[in-house]
Amino acid sequence: MIQEAPQRNLALDLVRVTEAAALASSRWLGKGEKIKGDLAAVDAMRLSFNVIDISGVVVIGEGEKDRAPMLYNGESLGTGNGPAMDVAVDPVEGTSLLAYGRPNAIAVVALAPRGTMFDPGPGFYMQKIAVSAKARDQVDIDAPVGDNLRKIARAMNKNVDDLVVFVLDKPRHKDLIHEIRKAGARIQLHTDGDVAGALMAVSPSGDVDVMMGTGGTPEGVLAAAAIIAMGGEMHCRLDPQSEQEKNNLIQAGYHLDRVLTVKELIRSEDVFFAATGISGGTFLKGVSFTGQGALTHSMVVRGKTGTLRRIESLHSFKKLMRISSIKYT
Ligand code: FBP
Repeated sequence: MIQEAPQRNLALDLVRVTEAAALASSRWLGKGEKIKGDLAAVDAMRLSFNVIDISGVVVIGEGEKDRAPMLYNGESLGTGNGPAMDVAVDPVEGTSLLAYGRPNAIAVVALAPRGTMFDPGPGFYMQKIAVSAKARDQVDIDAPVGDNLRKIARAMNKNVDDLVVFVLDKPRHKDLIHEIRKAGARIQLHTDGDVAGALMAVSPSGDVDVMMGTGGTPEGVLAAAAIIAMGGEMHCRLDPQSEQEKNNLIQAGYHLDRVLTVKELIRSEDVFFAATGISGGTFLKGVSFTGQGALTHSMVVRGKTGTLRRIESLHSFKKLMRISSIKYT
């Protein structure tokens, strides 16, 4: 048996990045300013990323260079000393949740060895079904919704009507919602935030059992990093929402019927994932300001060991403002 000495857990460095993004963006909670909230998180995230000893390249970022000034796909991140890594970032996952003060906006980052993350190219949307470890062998994205739910319930030692399914509240999910109700399962409808939905579904202590429906491709890759480490499963398939998106994918050589498991979304177990709550929710509490500082709640997880840490941090703005160029107040 190969035995390794304990190695550096980059997720513990990453949590400083997601904390910084959450602290900066949470000032915009409920102010109706999606872009300003996102920009605050992007600035803070980038500043804190550049002290991490990795040679990182953004694979899942804020978009193309011309449209995103920072954290754009292809941008180098980190000190350049250290392992070559693919980087996935979502400084505010749920920009509308933040702008309207709704629960479950989170700051999220994942790392995996260079060349292992699925590049969605021109694909913006994918269909997803995510479950916890107990039901990992039961999901079949090609099977009817009711069949999936019955098999998942059996694997979890529950009845179908015990299950809670997380679904994004979008017109495209009308039939899906009908099928879930017909099968007898219960539903949590959320306007946004299917990374949080996937985290809730794979977490054994969550109040959601399954996440189903079509959401963003970047969010799919980010969620895959956490699921690889936490031991659940997610099946995905590119699901273009316009003719243009479909044609772009076909032209770029993507197969629209290919089922992507978490192992295909990230082809390595050596992943690191961190998330910090911004607006507060059932899974991760949001940032609360104390007057002198702030309290943040994060989770970090490392794929190789499967260790999941929940971190509560108390930040002192007086001290931070003496040394940091990030604007905390
Ligand atoms: P943003 O933070 O980029 O706004 O994404 C929020 C989100 O709800 C994701 O969680 C989800 O995957 C995606 O948008 C769904 O896209 P759409 O709102 O276009 O249906």
